[in-house]
Amino acid sequence: MSMTSAHRRRLLRGLAVLGAGTLTAAFTRGVRTPTAPELCAVPGPFDAPLPVPGGDGRMGRLAAGGRTVVLRATSYGGDGALAFAARADGHDYIDPTLVVRTGERVAIRLENRLGEPTVAHWHGLTMDTANDGNGEALIEPAGNFDYTFTVHNRAGLYWYHPHPHGTTASQAYRGLFGLIAVEDDDEVRLRAALAVVPGETEIPLVLQERRTRGPYRYAPSPEDALLGWYGDAVAVNFTVRPYLDVTGRRYRFRVLNAGNARNFRLAFRRDDGVPLPFLLLGTDGGLLERAQPCTEVFLSPAERIDVLVDFAGIAVGGYVLLESRAFDPMQALPPRSVEPEGAPAGETHDMRAAAGRAGASPHVQDGAPMPLLQFRIRSRGPDAPPLPARLSAPPAPPPAADERPLRLGFAKGRWRINDRVYEKAAAPIVAARNAVETWLIRNYHTSMPHAMHLHGFQFRVLERETSPDLLASLVVDSRNRIGTDLGWKDTVLVWPGESVKIAIDFRHPFTGEQIYLFHCHNLEHEDGGMMLRVRVG
Ligand code: C2O
Ligand code: CU
Ligand code: CU
Repeated sequence: MSMTSAHRRRLLRGLAVLGAGTLTAAFTRGVRTPTAPELCAVPGPFDAPLPVPGGDGRMGRLAAGGRTVVLRATSYGGDGALAFAARADGHDYIDPTLVVRTGERVAIRLENRLGEPTVAHWHGLTMDTANDGNGEALIEPAGNFDYTFTVHNRAGLYWYHPHPHGTTASQAYRGLFGLIAVEDDDEVRLRAALAVVPGETEIPLVLQERRTRGPYRYAPSPEDALLGWYGDAVAVNFTVRPYLDVTGRRYRFRVLNAGNARNFRLAFRRDDGVPLPFLLLGTDGGLLERAQPCTEVFLSPAERIDVLVDFAGIAVGGYVLLESRAFDPMQALPPRSVEPEGAPAGETHDMRAAAGRAGASPHVQDGAPMPLLQFRIRSRGPDAPPLPARLSAPPAPPPAADERPLRLGFAKGRWRINDRVYEKAAAPIVAARNAVETWLIRNYHTSMPHAMHLHGFQFRVLERETSPDLLASLVVDSRNRIGTDLGWKDTVLVWPGESVKIAIDFRHPFTGEQIYLFHCHNLEHEDGGMMLRVRVG
């Protein structure tokens, strides 16, 4: 507990260094230490089975190509939860997983049956502005919108979620999102080679924050709006602390961080405490060329990983835990720094906390250790077929080009990119059609981790510089890249004090000028305006 409140004090000092005097003063009055017990210290039982999506129901797989799918945005269950409901071929779906093949035509009618405007964005897909659902045109209550597009992307796990600027966080938190599983020949070949079957040995794991008191109530305090909306628990496939009965064999997991703000440091641990290494097969934009051995992976909001885990070495009756390990998100901040300006002398933040927030909804801070899911080994499995040496033939990375600097920072009460916040009338970034650009994204030492996402294009990470020490053990090459940097990405986490260079190829198949968005996927930061428009000619 002391570690996490220390994070917070250091962040506050950091914000003060950035000149956030007034806001910091207001904000420190709200600072609190978490009142929830540390989840790692008091492990509760894993007593709910993990929902595994099948051919219908919640997250059920719905073949979406070559037909019109009707998604109805609706309230779900009466406690504030929202969902996309669909019906197809006599089956009912909630937040269906849309299964499509590369090259297929997709027609989706979105019916807004919420009491507020919404719009759906197809995160990670190559898309024209008219279908991107970027929030600049909204679907009013009782209104409909017809999306039609061709799937241009490689096989991979993408997702759809609401994007009405200012209420994205609220709607996504309450459950209004689903997966998009794109398949192609590489994917079909790999599945056959691994002998994995969706719904049995290939399973999506969708991680999302929960405040267990009033799980679908979204009411951020000013502090939540600034730092992000953290819960006291994490749901996996909409279930807190689930277990999955498994066979002692290989499983493929497709993991999405659908949470508002939390970053995960994901690792598998055997029941004897020993880490269970796994293979990274793919990232946001699809399969890697070769499987990458890993012991842990950071997963920020909106990022996806495709991993292969082998339970064959675990005795029947034993278990493996998927957990998020402890880390210090503000590692770049020196432990001692100046106090926030505007904080009355002689009063510590912790005292303010204790006084100010009694009875507040508990939450666990970013970087706190959290057990997520327990795998129980129930029987021996068949021997694993050999892993193919090449998983796929990904397109070559774009060449390096002139650098465009993008600075992530905080001023006048808001998170900013190049000192700017979102304005619908401006396009601070203009890229020529067909241009290749290198973006140098720099995050201040005194900042927070920001999960930077670009609409419409997959990009490659070229290099990391001045990364915090917590990445040191994950570095895989001389350019300081980590395992997930080896694949195609649409979202990249930039740590405080770090610079990340990415390469983007702005070629696109659409006629005319297109508008895209570049924003932080901490949904509170996004709703607060940490988002710029990108015009591509
Ligand atoms: Cu998933 Cu504009 O984002
Ligand atoms: Cu997006
Ligand atoms: Cu951010």
